[in-house]
Amino acid sequence: MNDRKLLVTAALPYANGHIHIGHLVEYIQTDIWVRFQKLRGKKCVFVCADDTHGTAIMIRARQEGRPETELIADMQAAHERDFKGFDVSFDHYGSTNSSENRELCNGIWAELRTAGLIAERDVEQLFDPVAGTFLADRFVKGTCPNCKSPDQYGDNCSKCGATYSPSELIDPVSTLSGAKPVTKSASHLFVELEQLHEFLDTWTQSGKHLQPEVANYLKGHFLCDPLRDWDVSRPSPYFGFEIPDSVGNFWYVWFDAPIGYIASTWQWCKANGEKLEDWWKSSSTEIHHFIGKDIAYFHTLFWPGVLKTAGYSLPEFVHIHGFLTVEGEKMSKSTGTQVQAHTYLKHLDPSFLRYFYASKLGAKLDDIDLNFTEFVNKVNSDLVGKVANLASRTARFIEATGLSVEYPHDGGLFAAGAAAGERIAQAYDQLDYSRATRLIMELADQANAYVENSAPWALKKDPTQQVRLQEVCTIVLNLFRQICVYLTPVLPKLSVQCGQLLQAPITHWDDSQTPVVNQAISKFEHLLQRIAPEKIQAMIEESKEVVPSPAAEVPSAAAPTSELPIDSGDALIQEPMAPTCTIDDFTKVDLRVARIIKAEEVPEAKKLVKLTVSLGGDNTRTVFAGIKAAYTLEQLQGRLVVIVANLQPRQMKFGLSEGMVTAAGPGGTEVFLLGVDSGAVPGQRVH
Ligand code: 2FM
Ligand code: ZN
Repeated sequence: MNDRKLLVTAALPYANGHIHIGHLVEYIQTDIWVRFQKLRGKKCVFVCADDTHGTAIMIRARQEGRPETELIADMQAAHERDFKGFDVSFDHYGSTNSSENRELCNGIWAELRTAGLIAERDVEQLFDPVAGTFLADRFVKGTCPNCKSPDQYGDNCSKCGATYSPSELIDPVSTLSGAKPVTKSASHLFVELEQLHEFLDTWTQSGKHLQPEVANYLKGHFLCDPLRDWDVSRPSPYFGFEIPDSVGNFWYVWFDAPIGYIASTWQWCKANGEKLEDWWKSSSTEIHHFIGKDIAYFHTLFWPGVLKTAGYSLPEFVHIHGFLTVEGEKMSKSTGTQVQAHTYLKHLDPSFLRYFYASKLGAKLDDIDLNFTEFVNKVNSDLVGKVANLASRTARFIEATGLSVEYPHDGGLFAAGAAAGERIAQAYDQLDYSRATRLIMELADQANAYVENSAPWALKKDPTQQVRLQEVCTIVLNLFRQICVYLTPVLPKLSVQCGQLLQAPITHWDDSQTPVVNQAISKFEHLLQRIAPEKIQAMIEESKEVVPSPAAEVPSAAAPTSELPIDSGDALIQEPMAPTCTIDDFTKVDLRVARIIKAEEVPEAKKLVKLTVSLGGDNTRTVFAGIKAAYTLEQLQGRLVVIVANLQPRQMKFGLSEGMVTAAGPGGTEVFLLGVDSGAVPGQRVH
């Protein structure tokens, strides 16, 4: 048997969102494989990390008014909590925003430079004139330049898998503001992937590292043409690592994200007295990546190219899975089918989802569907009805006597189960979990037939049958344990419960080969509860979100339109620009986000309304604003505005005005309050 060590990774989740049941397909799939390998006695290390860089995090941190580092720390804690809740047990969970990752990026970058793979040239990049930032990848949507599918993101197409730069999208729209982006030129750095074409052709087509459908897809879609240069830098502002030899430019998130696999391994090595070289530069380790089909291009072309050039080991295998649909449809927030991990855990046992996904997963890239009726039926019938039932129908009868001294004659049932072990193991090893669970349920069916025929409940009532009762229960509990050994990768908790019940912890796959005898057993405790369908309904209800339309999400932005309006220069002519001020002059003015909590008439004043604004907490101010002709009191109540918060208070005829609400326009009915994008909160300073 091949005794190479295994290093396993699952895709690094983005730090800008919570884990949901769609993500969990992959983490559960990978965790099952890792647990299986460990149970078989393999040295196997499972690493992951949060993927923390990029425009998305930067914008979100801006909206929340806090540093990116704070945002990513909170999100990482939430991710780790969710994974733990689903028994996904990483050996190490890191972050791409780590010193190890920066150091590795620097080293790998130097190797790419030395290999002559880096080119520099100006590119026209899309810029959001409303949000004031360059727009990359996930912030531009439009029509795929390759297959013409509409509504695709700016970095790659979910329909045909093509990657491209956002400026190549047809009819692009900024998802930040809905505005049509404008193009601006900036210098970018590229990896000339075509130089690695021959190597990538050989590596991807060798038949050893990718599922055949993936290899064929790459050949048919990408390797048949020259490979495009890969744009790996982004100009400031960007949250990430600045490129040491290109000041003002940062590595694109997809450059440093996979390097995070190595960085996380390195952190694990440091904590465990191991050497990174033994895991990433040694033929004694096999690297296995698990990813979804949407990110295949990055992991099968860019990543092997980078690893090869920088002298790291190539993945032994990149295992690619399909997407999750729920009730046959794409998950959706509005219908409540995009269930977050922590919402699921409030209502249901994580073992149920682990088992259900296992029963659906094969080694191919097919999407899997979560149909709730099937989910409830499968869990109740297989786990509760067939597996847990074996213990609940027998354990109590022998609490006093324990297991028989010798394993009784069972008609070859245990031996047949033991013999099935290798077939089940092979199915797990090949990621054919649906086959593995099917084979295990066949054993459970046979064990249940034995229970029915032996009727221990009837034996219990007959004083002359007590030895027989102990024998029957010994057999059934051993069949139960054998099944639990085989289910350990999927249901680690049930495996622990079984170990406690029979006072024989399950620690190795081979525990399935020998029965436990002559042994006291623990008091039976309930193992698994049936799912009540109301729980599913409650979980879905809680997951329903009112999804705001893009215009409502970004109230001050232009409505999504494919055309940028043509603005005349009249406003500037009517009110010419003020003389230049310094940044110090500007920062003297303290602009703050505030919420109008009360809007009242000032009957004696023609133009004014009296506003009570909140800066958060108990900080309220009274401000008189000359906007009576432009807004009704109802329109004002509750909305966010920007106020000059450190303006010297002014005593007016009607009261003290403690600030000024900012607005544009000549006056009268043409006054337009300044709003802020959603996410801003009262009290935040406007810079
Ligand atoms: O698609 C994603 O969610 C990415 N955050 C996955 C990164 S995997 C790796 F390359 F870091
Ligand atoms: Zn496409």
